[in-house]
Amino acid sequence: MEKIRWGILGCGKIANKFASDLRLVDDAALVAVASRDHQKAIEFSALHSSRYAFDSYEALVTCSEVDVIYIATPHGFHHEHALLCLNHKKAVLCEKAFALNAKQVKDMIDTAQKNNVFLMEAFWTKFLPQFQKLNEIIQSGEIGDLKMIQADFGFLAAQPTPQRLYDPKLGGGALLDIGIYPVFLAVTLLGKPLEVNAVMKPYATNVDEQIAMTLKFKNGELAILSATFAANTPVEATIVGTKGYVRMHNRFHNVTSDLELIVGHNPPKAIPVHKEEGYGYQFEARHVSECLRANRIESPVMRSADSLLLIETLDWIREKCGIKYEADSQ
Ligand SMILES: NC(=O)c1ccc[n+]([C@@H]2O[C@H](COP(=O)([O-])OP(=O)(O)OC[C@H]3O[C@@H](n4cnc5c(N)ncnc54)[C@H](OP(=O)(O)O)[C@@H]3O)[C@@H](O)[C@H]2O)c1
Repeated sequence: MEKIRWGILGCGKIANKFASDLRLVDDAALVAVASRDHQKAIEFSALHSSRYAFDSYEALVTCSEVDVIYIATPHGFHHEHALLCLNHKKAVLCEKAFALNAKQVKDMIDTAQKNNVFLMEAFWTKFLPQFQKLNEIIQSGEIGDLKMIQADFGFLAAQPTPQRLYDPKLGGGALLDIGIYPVFLAVTLLGKPLEVNAVMKPYATNVDEQIAMTLKFKNGELAILSATFAANTPVEATIVGTKGYVRMHNRFHNVTSDLELIVGHNPPKAIPVHKEEGYGYQFEARHVSECLRANRIESPVMRSADSLLLIETLDWIREKCGIKYEADSQ
């Protein structure tokens, strides 16, 4: 079987982890990487055994030996870089947050459709075994009807705070960087919210250092969510139904999370979850392979509609607490 030929755009931290996990995908080969800094691309390429090390993103998108490009730049550039790839007919797996706002995401989806090319948000959590297990438990009815979701994501940012976290041009702010995970969990399990409320504490740059959110859904379900760069928090989620609840332990969005099921007044039961080596990015990469082999331009799991619902909810939360990006007025 011919391998799916991957390119990586931007050689930062997450790109390194993703490249390492690509080794765990049988039908994938890392063929090319691109950085604005040629030396960095050469070193990254040597570490992860890719054939090409380009000194520009433009060189990567014109490489005829690349089938799909993983975009690993800060989210302030996802729209620009996704369009660059799609307009060169390269399939795209783009890191979260997919872009800065719904307008940009719609433009990316339109561009993928116009070029008949695959596009998916790299929402890796949705492909992790523990998330599938959570869905199975909910579908089985064991915890009854969903009523409430609580989830937090916080870490104490290193000092000085990395620019990506607070610079609005890079899409800085806790919500788009880590608050997106609690919001993803709530809208994935409960759908489109009917009501949204949020408060935040800003950095000097006006993006959020901390944010707290409450969401209300169609049948009265509620979500209580938070994110912060100012403290380490449990990074746990509790999914509560009328008969019981599931706890997703630290870090709930990550492959390392363990699940616990509590039904009625019974003692907590540990739920076995498939574990394998790697950081957990191999699961989404395997899914991309399946989609490309089936000639899909959209994933049936992380659909364009799912990305739109997520970013529209994030836009709504930002509007409620006054987080603005230049892209909002363009
Ligand atoms: N799925 C996950 O678990 C996860 C985890 C962490 C981050 N992320 C997401 O991945 C993206 C990148 O995060 P990261 O932590 O890898 O960031 P990072 O270490 O700062 O890397 C970002 C890379 O983007 C490129 N870049 C292009 N223009 C840039 C600019 N003006 N300023 C800074 N970098 C620029 C740089 O690559 P070159 O210098 O090589 O061109 C840089 O190394 C973000 O959208 C983030 O939300 C996802």
